[in-house]
This record gives sequence, structure tokens and C-alpha cells, in this order.
Amino acid sequence: KTSDFQHMIDAHSLAANFYSHLLLNTVEGEKALYYLEQRGFSRDLIEKYGIGWSLDDREVLTQLLQRKKFEMKEMERAGLCVMKNDGTGYFDRFRGRIMFPLHDDNGNVVAFSGRVLSDSKEEAKYLNSPETPIFEKSRLLYNFHHARLNVRKTGKVILFEGFMDTIAAEKAGIMNSVAVMGTSLSDTHLTKLKRIANQLIICCDGDNAGWEAAKRFALLAAQKGLDAQIALLPGKMDPDEYISINGGEAFTEKVLGNPYSYMSFIMAYYKRSKNLSHENDVLQYIHEVIEELATKVSPVERDLMIRQLSTETGVSSNALNEQIIKKVGQQA
Ligand code: GTP
Ligand code: MN
Ligand code: MN
Ligand code: MN
Ligand code: MN
Repeated sequence: KTSDFQHMIDAHSLAANFYSHLLLNTVEGEKALYYLEQRGFSRDLIEKYGIGWSLDDREVLTQLLQRKKFEMKEMERAGLCVMKNDGTGYFDRFRGRIMFPLHDDNGNVVAFSGRVLSDSKEEAKYLNSPETPIFEKSRLLYNFHHARLNVRKTGKVILFEGFMDTIAAEKAGIMNSVAVMGTSLSDTHLTKLKRIANQLIICCDGDNAGWEAAKRFALLAAQKGLDAQIALLPGKMDPDEYISINGGEAFTEKVLGNPYSYMSFIMAYYKRSKNLSHENDVLQYIHEVIEELATKVSPVERDLMIRQLSTETGVSSNALNEQIIKKVGQQA
């Protein structure tokens, strides 16, 4: 029912204001505020993104929602409260976490992601709201409501793996970025982006998980007919770390300013784990790249890549070409 949606949205709005108040105006929020300051969050940024703090208390939000006459069953369905094991009542889902509101396309808060203050092995770093009638993970892109206008204007959107990277990018003056919540990029996400952008820059973390995510994202974008390029970070840094170490200008110029095409990225991806002075690695590398060239690339691009591959490996373009023709023949 529409009114149930509205109740859930009202409750999230109340919760977001409450969390924000706890962070900005209370002694209990000081540690979290200090943490955010250490990570370079200005007061403006904290307010713009509506960041807050959930007390280390089992029921402070639950009690507030009850006082405001929200129905507890509904608050459980909305993901804000959890029923006690013995069924005698409810407690808060989020406790002792920095709260990042997740907004829908109209700017309503529909969910939260809560970060622990200190990275430990015991607790998950981020706790997200579950899927609810107002929050679909495969639909929501972090910062979409802020970025939409700038994306339309520039025709370009930057896609990050983590929402912290989107906030860091804003510090660098980049106003057209969004992030997936976690590692999966859905067809719905791409449809939304394709409607407002014709160019996508995928910028994942520099660790292994990030390279794998970038490969998945790039393939999905290509299948969707989006002109996607991939921006790579040196070492295992993520965009947020890169920006805090090297500054926004370096990020804009060196990282975003030098994106790879799908095929050059694929070549870098397969080269990453290899030593091209070893014959076995060279053969494996050629095999993997040709597999991609034979299926996913236009003839012109293929020609370019064959020349690059030939330079890298010392194998003649003719031999590489023959190999591809054989490959295509097998698939036909
Ligand atoms: P910081 O460590 O705060 O800088 O976060 P990050 O953005 O670098 O996070 P990371 O690269 O580890 O993960 C990227 C994204 O994956 C995050 O924005 C989250 O959406 C998601 N993620 C990471 N860790 C967890 C987790 O423990 N639980 C859940 N549900 N999601 C996570
Ligand atoms: Mn209701
Ligand atoms: Mn990561
Ligand atoms: Mn990261
Ligand atoms: Mn990070």
C-alpha cells in the first residue's frame, strides 16, 4: 500500500535526523565525529550526505519510533528494528555504527549502511539494511539523486565500488559519480545510467577484488551497449585512499584522465599475474587475450590489439591473426 511505503519513508527520515543529531550534537557522537574528521570529512560533507551515528544502545531508535506511533511490525519490515528472540519486543538493527543514509532517486532516505569505527575481524565492516518494500539493492545507486543532473550535463558518469569513494570524489570536485552497494552491478543499474549518460568510467579498487569487479562491470556495460572505459589505480589503493594521498587533481588527471578501453583493460588484466619473459606465461597470455579478441571486439579494435600483442610478445601479427581465425572458426 502507498501509505505503508510512506510510513517507512517517514520512519527513515526520522531515523536519519536522529542519527545526524547524535553525531553532530552529542557527547556520545564525538568519537565518530573524530573518526570522520580523520578521514577528511568536512562539516559540509557530513551534512550534505546526511551522515550520522547510531548509539551503542539496544533500543534508543526503537523507543523513539514507538513514541512517534510507528507500528513496530512495520518498522521491522522496514529494516530499522529487529524482533527479540523471545518475541517480547524489538531492538535497533544498527548500533554503534556511523550511519550513511541511502537515498532513492527522489532523495528519500530508504535504507542505511552502517560502518564500524574500528576495523576488526569480529564484526562486518558495513552493515546494510535488508531488502524492503522501499529498498531494492539491484535498483539503488549511491548518490544517484545528487549526481543525476551533472551526469546529464556532462554525459559522463563515474562508477565506484564503494560509496566512500563517491564521497571522496566529491572532495576532489567530481560531482558525477555513483557507487554500487557492494560488488554487484545489475541490469537495472545499467539501464538507469544509460538513460542519462553515454559514457561510463568504471573505477574500482586496485586490489584483486577490485580488478575482478572491474572486469565484470566492464563486460556488463559492454553488453548493455554503454561506452565504458576503465580507470586503474596504482598498487592496491582505492579511489578514496588515492585522493587522500595524492590529491584530487592527481586523481582527476592521472587516474580518470587516462582510462583504458575495454580491450586494453582486458590485456592489462591478463598481464597482471604473468611474467612475459617466461614462455609459458606468454602462451597463456596470448591464449586468454585471443579468446576475448575473437568474440567481443570490432575488426578495427582487433587489428589494433593484435599489433599491441605482437609488440608485447614478439609473436608476429600474422601468426596471431591465424590463431584468431581458427578460434572464430571453432565458434561459428
Ligand atoms: P572504507 O574501508 O570505509 O574506506 O570502505 P570502502 O569503500 O573502501 O569499502 P570496501 O572497498 O571494503 O568495499 C566496497 C563496498 O563493498 C562498500 O562500500 C560496501 O558497500 C561493501 N562492503 C564492504 N565491506 C562490507 C561488509 O562487511 N558488509 C557488507 N554488507 N558490505 C560491505
Ligand atoms: Mn502502515
Ligand atoms: Mn575493496
Ligand atoms: Mn575500497
Ligand atoms: Mn576505502
